[in-house]
Parts: sequence; structure tokens; C-alpha cells
Amino acid sequence: MIKQAIIPLAGLGTRLLPLTSVFAKELLPINGKPGLEYIIQECIDAGIKEIIFIISKKKMMIKNYFYNDKFYKDLIQKKKDPRIINEYKKILKFRKMIKFVYQNNPKGTGDAVLKTKKFINDKYFLMLLPDDLIIKYNCSKSMIKVHNKFKASVMASMNVKKNNVSRWGIYKLGKKLSKNNYLIDDVIEKPSTINAPSNKAVIGRYILPKTIFKKLSNQKPGKGGEIHITDAIQSLIYDNNKFVAHNFFGKYLDCGTMSGYINSSNEISKL
Ligand code: G1P
Repeated sequence: MIKQAIIPLAGLGTRLLPLTSVFAKELLPINGKPGLEYIIQECIDAGIKEIIFIISKKKMMIKNYFYNDKFYKDLIQKKKDPRIINEYKKILKFRKMIKFVYQNNPKGTGDAVLKTKKFINDKYFLMLLPDDLIIKYNCSKSMIKVHNKFKASVMASMNVKKNNVSRWGIYKLGKKLSKNNYLIDDVIEKPSTINAPSNKAVIGRYILPKTIFKKLSNQKPGKGGEIHITDAIQSLIYDNNKFVAHNFFGKYLDCGTMSGYINSSNEISKL
């Protein structure tokens, strides 16, 4: 069973500057709610019991969001407003599930994952990248089902425009396992159009094996000098570990770019 999820939150969010010069991008409101709350709710609805947040000293705002007790208590005492009481209760419910680990020197997603090594109990865990919102259908929940069926690692997948492959991890399609699920033969982080094995992109939901930590601890920096999770996954695939691409049903919102972020509120308000 997949019971633990990790969420890398230490990134600088440069694609959303100037907002991110003073603000944690994951707390930016999307239709009136921090983007991060949608991700937490997806985890809860998928049966996750513990979520590990990888933050940094520069992103303490995220921890403070969940530990602002005095603020809420004083306000509730003064106003006795049921809406405020409910907001506080929600924060307390979320916080019970959250553990914080630190990546003070962001060196890439792979390095972030490595920080959680001591805390992962089971053979597999879920990772969600908070830039990627998937609405209308719980992607993590379907991926857990796929994992249980094929006893394999799983990544969310989507076709992207050929001239845009260098924005994503791109994989080479293998054998079809069932409708919407395919084996992955190879994966490359942000390839050029010429080097891309397809236009099939990895989206920010992963079910990863605990064995990835060993790969990550020996891994050299890759593209842009960062330790990429994609490179560790590629190495596991070359060692014959099964990775399944799951074509998810929901609607993808790319909140990590300014135009995508702006559009996301509009899309969610239509739900
Ligand atoms: C990360 C991954 C990339 C993946 C993408 C999905 O990139 O490195 O392989 O396709 O998330 O959103 P980032 O968005 O951090 O640049």
C-alpha cells in the first residue's frame, strides 16, 4: 500500500518572478486557495496518511502557514466566526499529516527526494510536484491502482507539443499493458526537439521505489547542474526496473509558469 507522499517545496520558483521574490509560489492563491491545498487534498482523497514537505529556510512561510495558532486562537476568541473556526480546523487536520524536512541548498528534484530517505517506511512512495495541478479526476488515486495492479513504479503522462519537449522529462514508449498504461523504455530530462524520443511527457506525479535513494546518493549533476529525479529513474529503467506511464484522465494545469498560473484560477472557478 502507498501511504506516504513527498512534496518538494524548496525550489526558488524563478518562472513566477517577481511574485516569488517575496512569496512561496505554492501558497499563491488559485481561485481563493493556496495551490498547495489542492495537492494535499488530492493526497488525502488517494488514501495517503503522511505527507513529507521538503522546504528550505527561505520557504519557512510554508511551515508558518500551518503553525499560525496564536493568530487563529486570538481571532476566534474575539470574533467567534464559524468560517474562521473551520479554516483553523482544516489547517490543524492538514498539519497532523505533515512532516517537514529541509533542503537549504536547492540542487534539483533528485536532491530534494534524497532528503526524505530516512523517513520513507514502505517499498514505494508517492511524489507530487506542486506546480502541476490535475483537476476533475484524482490522478494519484488512479496511479496507486495502477501500481497495485502491475507491482511497478508509475509516472503520470501526457502528450505535449513537439516543439515544447525541452520543458519536460520525455519518455520512450514501451509495451502496452492496458488501456492508458504503457511500459517506459527510457526517459530523458528536457531533451532538445531533435533528441527527444517522443512527445510523451512526464507530469509531476510519481510512484517511486525506495531503491531510488541508492541511485540518488551516487548521482552526478545533470542538465543545468541539477540532480534530476529523471536521471535516477533512467538508471533504474536501465537496471530493468518496471516503470509504467499512466495517461491520466483529469485536466492538467501548469501552475509553474505565469500564463498557466493565471489560467488555473479561471479553470478551477468553472468546476
Ligand atoms: C520537473 C521534472 C520534469 C517533469 C516536470 C513535470 O521539471 O524535472 O521531468 O516533466 O517536472 O512538471 P520542472 O517543472 O521542475 O522544471
